[in-house]
Amino acid sequence: MKKPVIAIDGYSSTGKSSISKVIADKLGLIHLDTGALYRGVTWFALQTCKDENGTIDLNQLFSSLEKIQLEFKNDEGELVLYLNHKDISKEIRTNEVSDNVSLVAKQKEVRDFLLQSQRNLAEKGGIIMDGRDIGTVVLPNADFKFFLTASIDERTKRRYNELLSLGIEADEQQVKENLIERDKIDSEREIAPLKQADDAIVIDNTHMTKRETIESILSYIHKI
Ligand code: DC
Repeated sequence: MKKPVIAIDGYSSTGKSSISKVIADKLGLIHLDTGALYRGVTWFALQTCKDENGTIDLNQLFSSLEKIQLEFKNDEGELVLYLNHKDISKEIRTNEVSDNVSLVAKQKEVRDFLLQSQRNLAEKGGIIMDGRDIGTVVLPNADFKFFLTASIDERTKRRYNELLSLGIEADEQQVKENLIERDKIDSEREIAPLKQADDAIVIDNTHMTKRETIESILSYIHKI
């Protein structure tokens, strides 16, 4: 049987990536966390494309995009993101990146730059990709589409704990504000906004554990 192509979209901190990773392991699929790609471009911009006020100079970023080489390498089962051969997996989770990523991700130039490489990766099948526009734009013909959502308070708690576990200092209220702001920019942007595909299965996991969410998704896949 041909291995499936699965799209997982949804709000920040609904567990998309960690859930996708487990499903990929169980079904023998490749997992691509597309948010990490946008975070990688944002980290690059913060290093090399700031104006005199310390904010990202978007035009400078657009003309530098061709200098960016992003790749995932398998490090003992973990996919680690490299930017121009440097491991940036920890850097892309910092608050500075989280605060700027939605601005970068709403730019057409950036989205076009990342679109084709995401599609190329899915060409052979056997992949689960998580993001915001996978079911709507990147892989509209995916075999399965899921859309994850959860309450803002629950998502704040999850994101806050994730940051602490990474050793990154955080303030819970600030984490909440960042999530609200990102949801707003991601949902309202002109190009490829965060939105549920018409044929996606919606899962609200506010009161579900990670394991229950995984089981729910697998139950749909196994039905076929
Ligand atoms: O999933 P995440 O929080 O790591 O994603 C970071 C940002 O990247 C998020 O605010 C929106 C953007 N993003 C996007 O626009 N399209 C995707 N396919 C994935 C992420």
